[in-house]
Amino acid sequence: MSGVFLEVKDLYMYYRTTMGSLKAVDGVSFSLDRGETLALIGESGCGKSSLAKSLIRLLPRNVEVFRGHIYLDGEDLMEMDEDQFRRTVQWQRISMVAQAALNSLNPVIRVGEQVAEPLIVHKGISKEEALKKAREAFSLVGIPDAFIDRYPFELSGGMRQRAIIAMALIMNPEIIILDEPTSALDVLTQANIMNLLKKIKAESSISFILITHDVGLSSELADKIAVMYAGQIVELNDAEGFYSSPLHPYSQKLMASVPTLRMDRTPEYIPGSPISLINPPEGCRFADRCQHKMPVCSKDPPLVHLGEERFVKCWLYAK
Ligand SMILES: Nc1ncnc2c1ncn2[C@@H]1O[C@H](COP(=O)(O)OP(=O)(O)O)[C@@H](O)[C@H]1O
Ligand SMILES: [Mg+2]
Repeated sequence: MSGVFLEVKDLYMYYRTTMGSLKAVDGVSFSLDRGETLALIGESGCGKSSLAKSLIRLLPRNVEVFRGHIYLDGEDLMEMDEDQFRRTVQWQRISMVAQAALNSLNPVIRVGEQVAEPLIVHKGISKEEALKKAREAFSLVGIPDAFIDRYPFELSGGMRQRAIIAMALIMNPEIIILDEPTSALDVLTQANIMNLLKKIKAESSISFILITHDVGLSSELADKIAVMYAGQIVELNDAEGFYSSPLHPYSQKLMASVPTLRMDRTPEYIPGSPISLINPPEGCRFADRCQHKMPVCSKDPPLVHLGEERFVKCWLYAK
């Protein structure tokens, strides 16, 4: 493969449900360089968390289809069996702050020990040494030293989220997936966590995949943007291009729905609701909500390459 650090190519992940196969990740491709941050945005239920779980292979039992390529440094992780993936990639090269992780800490174990645990389990490091590393991680994420012996309930939401970020950092991963890392926090704490992430980004070469439904938030950290709609990526763009002129009609609606303080404009809403991922239409999945709908939209739009790293899955751009 090319020299790209992470390259996801034609990734599919379907769930088995009583209603049929649910196509949560339906042919997703994107790439990411070292130290880069990709923001993955899209409304609730479009498959963001499913994509995240596919990348770190933390999948539920009812997965029916899981195929495609995930090249990390040229090596296709999809070729690895469960055991090899768990021993060499999961949490070690790719880690994650899961959605709603705030309540996932074990209430009866001190936070320091919880953060240190992966080192003891996966790396066979002594408890003493692991706790020392946990202290370092705590200092990196701005948790006071004294908190290491506390229990999760003794920490505020913001401090708990910092501990969870410390957990994602402790194995020194190359990629961290952050799945809605601030959505359960109040606005002020949210800003603190975003500042922390910016600091970690500036001081390390870690690549981040920041998942959010909040377009405003993504602009804080992102180098590039992937917009997901109904299991597919409908736009890939560099952050600058995206925030100044989003390409896909869905992206334009997403941007227009962000309330702004200074502009004299009412936030728009996107009419209609997302389509079923069990029986998606053959053509463009956004067509029924799109103001530019044309007859050709009943056919599946191509992913049009507009130069550099800009792609849009829309007939408006097809020549
Ligand atoms: N374990 C599961 N079994 C069946 N369907 C699921 C499962 N997990 C998620 N889904 C469905 O997959 C779709 C995508 O969900 P998800 O990846 O959580 O979206 P997002 O993170 O963008 O909100 C949704 O329709 C959701 O209901
Ligand atoms: Mg989610």
